[in-house]
Amino acid sequence: MRGRTELPAWKALAAHRDAVADANLRDLFARDSHRGERLTAEAAGWYLDYSKNRIDDEGLRLLLALAGECKVRERIEAMWRGDKINLTEHRAALHVALRAQTGESFVVDGVDVVPEVHATLARMAEFSERVRSGEWKGHSGKPIRAVVNIGIGGSDLGPVMAYEALRHYSRRDIAFRFVSNVDGTDFYEAVRNLDPAQTLFIVCSKTFTTQETLANAHAARAWLLQSLGDEAAVTKHFVAVSTNVAEVAKFGIDPANMFGFWDWVGGRYSMDSAIGLSTMLAIGADHFRAMLDGFHAMDAHFRRTPFAQNLPVLHALLSVWNTNFLGTESVAILPYDQYLKRFPAYLQQLAMESNGKQVTFDGARVDCATSPIWWGEPGTNGQHSFYQLLHQGTRRVACDFIGFHQSLNPLGDQHTVLLANLIAQAQALAFGKTADEVRAEGTPEALVPHRVFDGNRSSNVLFAERLTPHALGALVALYEHSVFVQSVIWNIDAFDQWGVELGKQLAARIVPELQNTDAGLKHDSSTNALIRRLRPRRDGI
Ligand code: F6P
Repeated sequence: MRGRTELPAWKALAAHRDAVADANLRDLFARDSHRGERLTAEAAGWYLDYSKNRIDDEGLRLLLALAGECKVRERIEAMWRGDKINLTEHRAALHVALRAQTGESFVVDGVDVVPEVHATLARMAEFSERVRSGEWKGHSGKPIRAVVNIGIGGSDLGPVMAYEALRHYSRRDIAFRFVSNVDGTDFYEAVRNLDPAQTLFIVCSKTFTTQETLANAHAARAWLLQSLGDEAAVTKHFVAVSTNVAEVAKFGIDPANMFGFWDWVGGRYSMDSAIGLSTMLAIGADHFRAMLDGFHAMDAHFRRTPFAQNLPVLHALLSVWNTNFLGTESVAILPYDQYLKRFPAYLQQLAMESNGKQVTFDGARVDCATSPIWWGEPGTNGQHSFYQLLHQGTRRVACDFIGFHQSLNPLGDQHTVLLANLIAQAQALAFGKTADEVRAEGTPEALVPHRVFDGNRSSNVLFAERLTPHALGALVALYEHSVFVQSVIWNIDAFDQWGVELGKQLAARIVPELQNTDAGLKHDSSTNALIRRLRPRRDGI
């Protein structure tokens, strides 16, 4: 198969990039006084202003042509049809079915999966209501006052992100904690001050074989039983979310206390499945449904809207432009909302575990760069930290600014100040400040170069009215679909993650070598030396 760089639209984009290499955002805005209104799109309550990307109309036209040549439309339909688009694992990637509405149908292997999805949601809602109302009692008859989610990767990042994002809507009389790391500190600190008699553990693991999660789940059971002293207590204090009923039973959790999902839900695409049980416990079933409606609204937009107005498609194509044609190596996610503080971490897994790939579907080396590095922090905090590099560093970073018209916690004029900062940062990145402008401020000549802002740095601005469950669902779906479209352009499998395997295998071999100080070591000299060095220390403590 031809590499992507051989496609006519790719070649045309490369030529176009060279032709407009000198084009500057100042010029692009000067040439078109409506650019800031024209290069925008709206869907599912979200407004995207992409005018501050270094691209002109011809570049956009060619990107849309590239989407056509890469068969983005056909791949979207394949996803919706339940085709096994995760080729290397021979699975469908049908997270859109998780937010299907009544009357819709999604078919995997000849079976409509929507009734099962809705049945699971109904069970989750019933369980959540019982816990929230106090009807579900712990082993000693007390109501649940703490929920601890144990999981890692997609079984942690979505739940913790959603809990933090929707905290405004959450029950404040129930504590929510999240344990992911195999570092005992994570568990230890999470259960500190909790009463075992009033604590519910949700063990989330698609496979139920993940080392970290099982270690923490065993620690949780020991912690519980040490206090309650009766094996029977596990039934009242543990539920599982998994696709693997056999392993759940083996661990000792009653399958009646298990909420299932399916192999066609990727871990990093699972926060709206039963993996979101902690979210539902926190915000209630109605808010959870509103979140699913938000996902669904963006799904419908993604599937039906022409690409020139399609938020996820435009977002993805601009990322491809920045990555493959302008050489941008990273994407900064900059939410101007403290509730979204875990959103960058969530997107790191979504984007980089999906698209951090080096071979195409047929196993050939890609002939272009794939996923950039995603990272970020909420504004305005980042402004007093790494924004220096965004404005004057030698590396180009594509920025996504995310904000809301209304604050959930108005405090004097602080929300106005927050929004002003968001707008100002995007403006400063785009237009900078020239040497003449710096001089005109009376700056001493020696300082002029230090105070120049080159500008011409790309960003997107995303706005919604308020941070609601619906808005969060739509925002997550936007990024899910953008990541998918990018994978289609790069011709890579967005739904496998073979790159996480080697480290896991090696660690499994090293654990006994650290425990057994007599074991011979047959690694490279560095690994051997590290193991030897850590053996006596461990023993000495
Ligand atoms: O190791 C990576 C990974 O497989 C992720 O893709 C996944 O989200 C995470 O581990 C947790 O997996 P599980 O839900 O099966 O415990």
